[in-house]
Amino acid sequence: MKGIILAGGLGSRLYPLTYATNKHLLPIYDRPMIYYPIATLVNAGIDHIMIVTGGPHAGDFLRVLRNGTHLGVRHLEYAYQEQEGGIAEAIGLCANFADGDDICVILGDNTTDADIRPAVEEFSGGALLFLARVPDPERFGCPVFDERDAKRITRIEEKPSNPRSDFAVTGLYLFDAKVFDYISRLEPSARGELEVTDVNNFYLNDGTLRWQELQGYWSDAGTFESLHRANRFWAAQRGWSSADESD
Ligand code: DAU
Repeated sequence: MKGIILAGGLGSRLYPLTYATNKHLLPIYDRPMIYYPIATLVNAGIDHIMIVTGGPHAGDFLRVLRNGTHLGVRHLEYAYQEQEGGIAEAIGLCANFADGDDICVILGDNTTDADIRPAVEEFSGGALLFLARVPDPERFGCPVFDERDAKRITRIEEKPSNPRSDFAVTGLYLFDAKVFDYISRLEPSARGELEVTDVNNFYLNDGTLRWQELQGYWSDAGTFESLHRANRFWAAQRGWSSADESD
């Protein structure tokens, strides 16, 4: 399986922090945000990785990541996304890199301490989503479950105003090579993007979408609140406590 990290976009929800660098290079406690999805992939045994980036600060990635060997990456490639055309468009830029292999996609502003290695090793095609319970599902892709079978997803809605459960679709996805065919059939959504949620609904309709609950901590970090939350979690993980605040 190959890894893809999406780190494009302007990070405009974090202005002015992102005027001078790419969102995914901002610090989460003691390391750049992008280190976290890289570690999730490397810990799962995935060390061939493509980073999709864009915007005016794309060059900063080379300075921080170089060839990635210091982070356990054996092979690192970069793709440049011209516009914020959506998560699915960004994945579509990786078709040659994937070259028919299964892929694990992680959104570059998602951090987790979950071990996805078992899911990666057991993956047998289709798509696998990782869901997490959240207090604010309306900010995310949200599954709608079958009323007669609480484990069966009937559709996925992108940022619904009335979420039908407290689960969010996290930004970690396993896809087989069909993903590129599905992406080529997408139309832009109302917000002008090719949506990963529409890709997931293709898999759902062909009966090959599965899901599991992500075990452990998970957060995005694309807003001031979620960035702050992620900083506090990872600081605590590394032994910092608020009692140290007087230091
Ligand atoms: O965090 C999980 C959520 O991520 C999912 O639940 C949603 O279904 C999914 O649409 C996405 O929602 P967001 O609105 O939070 O995604 P955002 O636009 O912030 O993009 C997430 C990351 O993907 C971001 O860190 C950069 C990357 N990205 C995004 C877009 C739109 C790209 O590389 N290129 C893009 O064109």
